[in-house]
Amino acid sequence: MIVPPADIATAARLLEQGRLVAFPTETVYGLGADAENPAAIARIYAAKGRPSNHPVIVHLAPGADLGYWASAIPFEAQALIDAFWPGPLTLILPRAAHIPAAVAGGQDSVGVRCPSHPVAQALLREFKSGKGGIAAPSANKFGHVSPTTAQHVRDEFGVGIGTGTDSAVDMVLDGGQSDVGIESSIVDLTRLATHGPVLLRPGRVTVAELAAVLGVMPGAPDAAAPRASGTLQAHYAPLTPVAMVASAELLPRLQQLLHAGRRVALMHWSDTDPQGVLFALRLPASPAGFAHALYAGLRELDAVAADLILVESPPKNAPWQAVHDRLRRAAHDSVGILEHLL
Ligand code: TXA
Ligand code: MG
Repeated sequence: MIVPPADIATAARLLEQGRLVAFPTETVYGLGADAENPAAIARIYAAKGRPSNHPVIVHLAPGADLGYWASAIPFEAQALIDAFWPGPLTLILPRAAHIPAAVAGGQDSVGVRCPSHPVAQALLREFKSGKGGIAAPSANKFGHVSPTTAQHVRDEFGVGIGTGTDSAVDMVLDGGQSDVGIESSIVDLTRLATHGPVLLRPGRVTVAELAAVLGVMPGAPDAAAPRASGTLQAHYAPLTPVAMVASAELLPRLQQLLHAGRRVALMHWSDTDPQGVLFALRLPASPAGFAHALYAGLRELDAVAADLILVESPPKNAPWQAVHDRLRRAAHDSVGILEHLL
């Protein structure tokens, strides 16, 4: 998907004026604003309906001066950058004093990421001549499924797009479907001395890949770890209730649900032949293929207005960690939902 240079220029000028531009990245679409303009960041929170104490990721152009954004760059950060940037990895670092606290939800850190998507990179190079940072959470309403296409963004924010009102999205750049399909891995490097590197959110870059570069396994977040909205229990959820069941339980559960007169939309990956469902969507049986199709699939299944989206749990081994993390949140109340429907 080619975006004309004139559209990139228009988008960069809008951002420089403090407006909101949604843009593609290789993970999911972001809702961008000037990371150094607190009023622009406030617009992100208003548009998303998100609490303003949630930090947002600052996206940087390839080769940007990280020392401008972070007050310290530990060697662990440089090693991860050399290995994974540009790409789906966000680093949490101590925030430089002159960077507005608004971008970090008031915390003394800053999350930074250099995306690999060519449209994101073109925008970052054009915005403030490549010297700025674009603050961007995923371009969805708070708690909802992240968008992996420009159409998903329009579906989320359609009514206000281009109206110029305060909380409206001013422009959407269409860069095709996001390749990775789930949000970046996030590694916190702000408490190295006491906690070592901590994986706040799993993503395409796996724990094993991070460990190979860091020389240690990244830890899991404890109660004192920085807040990450993606780590809330109920997140990434469609409007239709979602329940996840093991492969062996899939057909028996389905029979029970159909017997109870429920309208079921099914997401599965194994070779089954489900009868009687409203709609069945089969996803690839690989972690990368499943992740790529997951959010678009949840939106598609949401649209059939079933009583339930039933998801076949993927395998539980390490390569599936990020997919499981997202599915667990989408299906956070599987037991309660099934009890209610049966
Ligand atoms: O792949 C991605 O990361 C996408 C694309 C657009 O880059 N962005 C994304 O943003 O997923 P968002 O806001 O939906 O999730 C960002 C996560 C949140 O969980 C937030 O709490 C965490 O990053 N985060 C950002 N800055 C942080 C900071 N300074 N300290 C702790 N967590 C931070
Ligand atoms: Mg998000």
